[in-house]
Parts: sequence; structure tokens; C-alpha cells
Amino acid sequence: MTHPATTRPAMTTTARGAPSAGDAILSADGLGVRYGSFVALKDVTLRVRENSVHAIIGPNGAGKTTLFHALTGRIRAATGRIALAGRDITRVPDDDRVRLGLARSFQVTSLFATLSVRENLRLAAQGRTPWQALAPWRSVQGNGAALATAEAMLERLDLARVALRPAGELSHGQQRRLEVGMAMAARPRVILLDEPTSGMGTDDIGAMTDLIRALGRDHTVLFIEHNMGIVMNISDTVTVMRAGQILVEGKPAAVRDDPEVRRAYLGNMITGDIR
Ligand SMILES: Nc1ncnc2c1ncn2[C@@H]1O[C@H](COP(=O)(O)OP(=O)(O)OP(=O)(O)O)[C@@H](O)[C@H]1O
Ligand SMILES: [Mg+2]
Repeated sequence: MTHPATTRPAMTTTARGAPSAGDAILSADGLGVRYGSFVALKDVTLRVRENSVHAIIGPNGAGKTTLFHALTGRIRAATGRIALAGRDITRVPDDDRVRLGLARSFQVTSLFATLSVRENLRLAAQGRTPWQALAPWRSVQGNGAALATAEAMLERLDLARVALRPAGELSHGQQRRLEVGMAMAARPRVILLDEPTSGMGTDDIGAMTDLIRALGRDHTVLFIEHNMGIVMNISDTVTVMRAGQILVEGKPAAVRDDPEVRRAYLGNMITGDIR
């Protein structure tokens, strides 16, 4: 039997080689969200595989950020179910979802501007930040371990050179990397990044791309991105949304070549474009 390169929601996932809910670290089934009478998400079914880099793309207004809001519990789903590591979290409040290991960067400003970069990371590793991730399935790190985590993260974030600088003095790109690093230092199971490279110059985009790729090796990253070069380079799976629904899902090359995706993007102002 041959599998199509991309799957479409009308022919659902299970018989076609996509991961089942059991294989997914984060999953949504039949998710629906309304803003008043406007249907912003309709019947969205998503499987995010553990230790993968999974991109959500789609034209402006497709419902990508709304999907993140629903997954993190910032807004309530009108229909459907959400599961994290096999546990139903549909009715779990957003703070508790963070404690269960679902982190979202850039939702709150999580940096202590006057403390050094290293100190920010050490505190994050100890769960003493607004993230308060406290990862209940693991003990909070002691000081020595937290320092070691901070040191490792400094390298990973390409921030070792500015380890002693106050976080508030970093460039925009460096601060965004530090925010991702602080979310990661608290060891979430899944991290959600909404347009992590927006507003960045080329150098910072390169560093953020490297960081996301590296994080996917031993964590799970779900990210929204308009820059198709980045999406195609570092994603294991790409989900394309349009008008509140999932249009297509598959590996980057297959998604790029999908005629429906090309049609969806035609005439849209998407940075990088699909080529
Ligand atoms: N609070 C809200 N109240 C009413 N409508 C909303 C609200 N937030 C978003 N919408 C609408 O829901 C739709 C999806 O918005 P959403 O922000 O999820 O899109 P998006 O895919 O993230 O777009 P972008 O790429 O521009 O960030 C849009 O039509 C938007 O106008
Ligand atoms: Mg958005």
C-alpha cells in the first residue's frame, strides 16, 4: 500500500500512517473555537510527535494563534478534546497546563531585566520564575544542578559571551533566545513558539533557527512561522491551516509541493513564499 505524501483531514489520519493519539505527546481531536458567532477553529485534529519539530503555517487569519490559545488553555474550546502525554487536559486551567509540562514562550515577559543572563537561566532551572514550571514529574534542581543547566543553556542559546550582562541590555534577538531558553530550562515536555523569528534581522534569525532545530532533538517544539525557508529547513512535520481548519499535513517537501497548499498561498503576503 502506498501512503500519500500529505494527509487531508477529510480522509482522517489513522489509516494513513500518521501517529495515533497514543504516539503523540500533544494531541487535539475535533477542536473548535468561536469568537462570538465567528467560528475561528473548526474540527481541528492534530498530533504532535514527541521529540519532533512541528510547524504550523497558513495565511494570516487562518487560526494558528487561536489554536495555540486553545492548546495552552488561554481560551476555552467550544468542542473537542486536548491531551498532553496521554492525559486529557481539555478542562485543565492554563496555569496547571504549564505545570504539566506545556510551555509557551513569549506569552509573558519572563526575563528579570536587571539580573544577568546566567542568573536568569539558573532561576528558571530552579523553577523560580514566572514560568514556575516546577515540572512535578521531576524534582526541582538544586543549586549545583541548576548552575550546570544554566551553563549548558548558555552554549545552546549562543549567549555564553553575554552571560554576565543584565538581560535587559541584550538585543531583541538575544532576549528572545533567552526567553526560549528560560522556558526550556524548566524542562517542559512541549514548547509552543508563536512566530519566534518575527521582527528579527538575518543573524538573529539564523541563531533562533539553530536553537529550534537543536531543541527538537531532545524536546518537542510546536511553532508558528511565516518564513518558509525556516519551516522547510528544520521541521519534521508541517501542518497547513486555512480558514480555521487543517488543509494538509506532512513532511516539508511534500507540503511544499502540494497543489492545494500552493493554491492557498496564492496571492498571500507570506514572507519567503513557498517555492
Ligand atoms: N479575540 C478575538 N475576537 C474575535 N475574532 C478574533 C479574535 N482573535 C482572532 N480573531 C479572528 O480569528 C481569526 C483567526 O485569528 P488568528 O489570530 O488565530 O490567526 P493567525 O493564523 O494567527 O493569523 P496571523 O498569521 O495573522 O497571526 C481571524 O479572522 C481573526 O480576525
Ligand atoms: Mg497569529
